[in-house]
Amino acid sequence: MAGRVLITRPIPEPGPDLLRESGLDVEIPSEDRSLTREELLRSVRGRDGVLCLLTDQIDAEVLDAASGCKVVANMAVGYNNIDVAAATSRGILVTNTPGALTESTADLTWALILAVARRVVEGDEEMRTGRFPGWGPLHMLGGDVSGKTLGLVGPGRIALAVAERAVGFRMSILYAGNRPNPAFDAIGARLVDLDELLAESDFVSLHVPLTDRTRHLIDSRALAKMKPTAYLINTSRGPVVDERALVAALDSRRIAGAGLDVYEDEPRMAPGLAGCRNAVLLPHLGSATAGTRAAMSRQAAQNLLAALAGRRPPDLVNPSAWSGPKVAG
Ligand code: GLV
Ligand code: GLV
Repeated sequence: MAGRVLITRPIPEPGPDLLRESGLDVEIPSEDRSLTREELLRSVRGRDGVLCLLTDQIDAEVLDAASGCKVVANMAVGYNNIDVAAATSRGILVTNTPGALTESTADLTWALILAVARRVVEGDEEMRTGRFPGWGPLHMLGGDVSGKTLGLVGPGRIALAVAERAVGFRMSILYAGNRPNPAFDAIGARLVDLDELLAESDFVSLHVPLTDRTRHLIDSRALAKMKPTAYLINTSRGPVVDERALVAALDSRRIAGAGLDVYEDEPRMAPGLAGCRNAVLLPHLGSATAGTRAAMSRQAAQNLLAALAGRRPPDLVNPSAWSGPKVAG
């Protein structure tokens, strides 16, 4: 297959090899960092396809610079970094990588649940700094996990994988979303509205995509509905939470704690968050395992290859940009 493809940053194999083996001319910047805006605008020029990352802002200006581009393949499940409407109106296909990172993101969600409730990071720090006073009946008491109520916001794949793990912890499971999902019902989870979920859950875990409707879904009003003993977990997208309101809630112990993997303005954090002892803070590691990143690389490349071959990509985000199979050029 002839064609020129940009991968916006070095990624794990096998994606790049799959593209090269298909005969495509693949450009990958040599440095492991995000392209600057200017570099991105320059690099997309003349490309038939772009394999990009969640840190690349693919907006109308970039899409115009990429005139002739047929597909933008995001190596992520979330695609809020892409102006999908702008791509659709230009007839550019957009794809993502659902499924590949479901298990690893669910695992990391559980790492946060356990770490924040059982004070794993504080405890580790106490040991390293030589401040362990010896076992004591009042020493570093945390919150219970087993048998508690887990509330999942969003009825998707990742939330389901988190719920499946919760069965082993004998938790009551609630989920909120705009549609019932029979897979949740099958493990005994109960569909409730968001207010009920916030009021009843001991752990509130967010698994929604970032859209205009989910931006600041968890604001001061929502935080005020949570139990003072409850924990907020976010492995979705930072702007789903009003981070300043969260800092206020953590500071005043309005809620017991938070486990966060994502932030409103990555890689920065809201003022005061780093000082909150009742927060466990990870640097966007949800999909960060060697196996998952390889699977995402493969899936993004396969989507891109399908599009350039005139086939409908398996993970097409904007079906209305699809005008039917084409003969490969
Ligand atoms: C990671 O955050 C992803 O959306 O893939
Ligand atoms: C993403 O994979 C989701 O549906 O949660």
